[in-house]
This record gives sequence, C-alpha cells and structure tokens, in this order.
Amino acid sequence: MASPGAKALEDRVAVWDTAVRCLHWLLVATVAIAWLSSLALLGWHEPAGYAAAAIVAARVAWGFTGSRHARFASFVRGPAAVAAYGRRVLARRERRYLGHNPLGGWMVLALLACVGALGVTGWLYTATDLFWGEAWLERVHAALAWLLLALIALHVAGVVFTSLRQRENLVRAMVTGAKQAPGADDAA
Ligand code: HEM
Ligand code: HEM
Repeated sequence: MASPGAKALEDRVAVWDTAVRCLHWLLVATVAIAWLSSLALLGWHEPAGYAAAAIVAARVAWGFTGSRHARFASFVRGPAAVAAYGRRVLARRERRYLGHNPLGGWMVLALLACVGALGVTGWLYTATDLFWGEAWLERVHAALAWLLLALIALHVAGVVFTSLRQRENLVRAMVTGAKQAPGADDAA
C-alpha cells in the first residue's frame, strides 16, 4: 500500500521548467550582487549588472518559446482580469492558479522591465559616447535601483501571502518545479 507521503508525491505536477527555475535563482543572485556591490566592491557592479540584464533577455526569449507556464501568453492577462482577481483577493475568494496569478503575472513583467532598464541605463552612461557621465541618467539609474528594491519587497510579500492562502510553499515550488495538482475549483 502506498504511504501518505507517496500519495502526496503522486498528486504533484510539473509547473516550472528547469530554465525558469535556473534563470530565477541566477537573477536573484546577480541582482543581489549588483545591489550590494554598488555600496562596496564596485568592481563587481558592472559585470553583475550586465549578467542580470542578460538573464532578463534569456527569460524574455523563453517567454515566447518555453513550456506552458513559462510563456507570457499563459500568464499576462488584461486589466479586467487583473481587477477581478484583485477584488476576489480582497474578498478572500480568489481562485488558485497553477502558474502565475493575474497580479503575479504583471509583477513578473515589472521586475524584468526594471532590471532590463537598469542594464540599459548603466550601459548608456558608462559605455556610450553620447551619454557618458550624464548626471541625469545616473539619477534615473539610482531611482530605478530603488524602485526595483520596492518591487522585490512587494514580490516576496505576494509570494508569502499566496503561499499562506493556498497552503502551499511556493518558494519550494520555484526550487523543485512541482506544485499540488489542480483541484476542481482552481483557475486554468
Ligand atoms: C532579486 C530579487 C528577485 C527578483 C528580481 C525576482 C524575480 C522573479 C521573476 C522574474 C519571477 C517570474 C519567474 C518566471 O516566470 O520566470 C519570479 C517568480 C517567483 N519568485 Fe522571485 N524574484 C526575486 C526574489 C525572490 C525571492 C527572495 C523569493 C523567495 C522568497 C522569490 C520567490 C519567487 C517565487 C515563489 C516565484 C513564483 C511565483 C508564483 O508562484 O507565481 N523571488 N521572481
Ligand atoms: C541589476 C542591475 C543593476 C542594479 C540593481 C544596479 C544598482 C545600482 C545602485 C543601487 C547604484 C548606486 C546609485 C546611487 O545611489 O548613486 C548604482 C550605481 C552605478 N551603476 Fe548600477 N545597477 C545595475 C546595473 C548596472 C550596469 C549594467 C552598469 C554598467 C555597466 C551599472 C553602472 C553603474 C555605475 C557606473 C554606478 C555609479 C557608481 C558610483 O560611482 O557610485 N549598473 N547601480
């Protein structure tokens, strides 16, 4: 007879593919190094920033070619769906999504866009003749870095909140790739 633990394993389905998981944790590491090295160890800052931007480029490409839940088309939803999901969260009646939920989907785009913009502004004022040393670009770069920090705080809060609401450890799912199989009440 199968043990309860084995039963729980049987009920899990693959959601996040290997590329999504590797790119996520590499992005976390490179953004952390880029941020920390802006305070000390400046020699690490530009390589880490470029690495983060390259990871974003790879993730965007994977968003059009990757597996089902990696694709933007599967999790980027219109304003009406996002507002409806937000209202349901406030009423504590939101449905579970196997991939990113409608609010989480826009957070993914915001995080990727912010890191991408940091890479571009950093490059523009350190490596191009046209914008080299421009003070306003440096200010934009610093503002984007703080915006990114705020987005990350919201992102982690959203992950913890949804994990508690759904009684599922979403951080572990981003490591193993597997989540509880969808139930009858779940959204697509
Ligand atoms: C530098 C900081 C971070 C950045 C830039 C970031 C960025 C992202 C991005 C872009 C995704 C979408 C994944 C994809 O579809 O490829 C994502 C998802 C996710 N991240 Fe992060 N992340 C950061 C930190 C963290 C941390 C510290 C945690 C752990 C608490 C975390 C947990 C997750 C989880 C669980 C998901 C999946 C969310 C879901 O189930 O819909 N992230 N993150
Ligand atoms: C994830 C990507 C990045 C993050 C999070 C980031 C973050 C930061 C932060 C927080 C600062 C300090 C801003 C201030 O208060 O003045 C900074 C400064 C700077 N960044 Fe970035 N950055 C990123 C990418 C890049 C890239 C790709 C480059 C260039 C190739 C770059 C070049 C610089 C330079 C030259 C400074 C000024 C350092 C100084 O003299 O204080 N950054 N960045």
